[in-house]
Amino acid sequence: MVRDTTVLLDERRIFEPSEEIKKRANVKDWEAEIEKGKNVEKYWAEKAEQFEWFKKWDQVVDESNKPFYKWFVGGKINLTYNAVDRWIKTEKRNQVAILYINERGEEEKITYYELFVQVNKLANALKNLGVKKGDTVSTYMPMCPELLIALLACIKIGAVHSVIYSGLSVGAFVERINDAKAKVLFTADGTYRRGKIIDLKPIADEAILQCPTVETIIVVNHTGTPIEISELSGREIFYDRLLDGEPSYCEPEQMDAEDPLFLLYTSGSTGKPKGVMHTTAGYMVGAATTLRDVFDIHSDDLWWCTGDIGWITGHSYVLYGPLLLGTTTVVYEGAPDYPDPGVWWKIVEKYGVTKFYTAPTAIRHLMRFGTRYTNLYNLDSLRILGTVGEPINPEAWMWYYKNVGKERCPIMDTWWQTETGMHLISPLPVAPLKPGSATRALPGIEADVVDEDGNPVPEGKGGYLVIKKPWPGMFRTLYKDEQRYKDAYWNEFPGCIYKAGDMVRQDEDGYFWIQGRSDDVLKIAGHRIGSAEVESAFVGHPAVAEAAVIGKSDPIKGEVIKAFIIVKEGYELKTQLIEDLKKHVRYELGPVAVLGEIVQVDKLPKTRSGKIMRRILRAQEMGEDLGDTSTLEE
Ligand code: WTA
Repeated sequence: MVRDTTVLLDERRIFEPSEEIKKRANVKDWEAEIEKGKNVEKYWAEKAEQFEWFKKWDQVVDESNKPFYKWFVGGKINLTYNAVDRWIKTEKRNQVAILYINERGEEEKITYYELFVQVNKLANALKNLGVKKGDTVSTYMPMCPELLIALLACIKIGAVHSVIYSGLSVGAFVERINDAKAKVLFTADGTYRRGKIIDLKPIADEAILQCPTVETIIVVNHTGTPIEISELSGREIFYDRLLDGEPSYCEPEQMDAEDPLFLLYTSGSTGKPKGVMHTTAGYMVGAATTLRDVFDIHSDDLWWCTGDIGWITGHSYVLYGPLLLGTTTVVYEGAPDYPDPGVWWKIVEKYGVTKFYTAPTAIRHLMRFGTRYTNLYNLDSLRILGTVGEPINPEAWMWYYKNVGKERCPIMDTWWQTETGMHLISPLPVAPLKPGSATRALPGIEADVVDEDGNPVPEGKGGYLVIKKPWPGMFRTLYKDEQRYKDAYWNEFPGCIYKAGDMVRQDEDGYFWIQGRSDDVLKIAGHRIGSAEVESAFVGHPAVAEAAVIGKSDPIKGEVIKAFIIVKEGYELKTQLIEDLKKHVRYELGPVAVLGEIVQVDKLPKTRSGKIMRRILRAQEMGEDLGDTSTLEE
C-alpha cells in the first residue's frame, strides 16, 4: 500500500546525535564514511578482513555475468566457525552468546563455549543422519536456543537451511518444504504465546504427510508437552537423544565463498513464494558490518532484536550478525504485551539491554498504553534504538524516541529486504535524523529513485527505489528459478539495476522517504505476504469462485487484508461462511494473514486477458481516481 508520509510530518525538525553517541561511535564521520564507500571493492574488502578465512579471496566482486554477481571469489570460509569456534579461543569463551528469555519469565544463558559444544554435537549427529554438504534442512520451530543451534550446526557441515516461520500453517509449510526438497525437518511440540502453548507438532505432523523428501524429523520437547512419537512413521527422533554420545568437535566444512548458505521463502506478486537464496561469504560480511556500524556494537553491549528467526530480520540480526561480532544476543519468545504491555521494558531494565531493534507495528501497539509502562521501568541502559519492516509513521517515531529512548537514543530506521540480506538504507548513529525517513544509503551502497522507464526523477518526486551497484549480502538467485530472478528484479529497468519493489521519494538533503510497496505485496504487522497467495487460499475453499485481495490500512498493523469474493452458486456470504473462510485461510497460511474485511461482489475488475486489476480495487477503496482504465474489460 502506498502511503504518503509527506503530509504528516514536519520534515524540517532534525534530531542531532548527542555528544555521548558521537564520542563512542565506531564510525565518527557519516559523510566521510559514505565517501569511502564509493570505492565499493576496497570498502567491502576491508570489511571482509574481520573474519578468519581458510583461504583469502582472489577477487572482491565478479560482475562478468550480471545479474549473477559473485563476491569474494576464490575465498574459503565457514560462517559457524567465525560465529562460534573463533570466539572460544578468546576472552569471549565464557561470555553469554545467547540469552534466551520467554514470556513466562524463564531464562537460559548459553556461553560461547557451551554453544560450541552443542553445535558441534548436533553437527556430528546430522552427519550421522546422512546430511551432506548442499543438502537442505528445514525448521519449523519456536524462538528457542535449539533453533539457533540447529541452524549453526547445518552451516558448520555445509547443509543449506530453510526456516519456516512458526506462524505459517499447513499450506505454506508443504509448499516450502517440497520446493526446497528438505531432507531433515526440525520441529518442536509448541511455543509460548500469551499465556498459552500453541501447538506446532500437529501442524507439522499433518503437513509432513505431503512432504515425501523428508527422511528424518527431529523433535525438540520445548514446552514439555507430552509428545507422541509415532512408532509407525519411523522417521522421528527426539532432539535430546540425538546428541547423546556425539563427539563435541566437528571439523568445519571449508565452504566456497559462493556456496549456498540458506534459503528463505518470501512473498512476491504471484502466488508462488520465492526461494531467496543467500550464499556464504558476502552475506557474512554484509550482516556483521551493518550490525556493527548501524547499531555501533561494542564489547559491553547487550543486543536485542525482537524479530523472529522465521524472517530475514531474525537470520541477520538475531542470529548471524550478533554472533559474528561476538556479542550477546537476546532471543525472546512471546508477545510484546503479555503478561502485560510492560514486559519488554521490564526485560530491558532487568538485563540492561543497550541496543533495541523492533518493528513499527509493535511500537504502535505499545504506544496505545501511553507512558504507563515505559515509566514503570528504568530504561537508562538503552543507547540506540532501531526499527525495521515497514515505514514508521512520525507519531510512532516520536513516541519511541521520547518514551523509550528518553530523547537520548537515536533511532535507526533501517530499510532492507529478505533479498538484500542486510540493511541498505539506514542512518548511522552519528547521522542527523528526520522522523519517518530511513535517511541515506549506507556506505558502500548506491540507491536511487527512477520513473517507469528507469530515468532518475527530480528531487521530491516519487518513483521506484533501485539499487545501482551490487552489495555483498545480496541474494544470488531465486531457488530453481533464474528466470524469475532476472525478470522480477533486474530486467525492469535498463542497465541491470535492482528493482526493490518499493515506492520512494528523496528530499532536498538526499534523504529517502519510503512510501510502501509498488507491487501486490502486503505488509501486515511487518510480515510480508502476497495478495495472490491469499487469493489462492480463498479460492481453495469450496464456496469461493473468485477472489481478489488488497491491503486496507490499519492503525496498528499497518495493513490488513480486504478480500472481494465471488461466491459459487448456492452460497451466500453470511456470518457462518465468513467464519469458515477465516478459518480456512488461517489453516492454509497461518495467523500472519490477518483478515480485516470480506465482502461479496458479483464481478471483479479484470483486464481483457483475465488478470485481476487490484489497482482499481485499491483506488476505489481509497476513494481515488481510477487512473488508466483502458485495459479494463468492462
Ligand atoms: C518494507 C524485512 C519502510 C519494504 C527486512 C520492503 C520498510 C519490505 C523498511 C521487505 C523501512 C522494510 N521503512 N519500509 N525501514 N524496512 N520495509 O523482505 O516494503 O520481509 O520492500 O524484509 O519491507 O520485507 P521483508
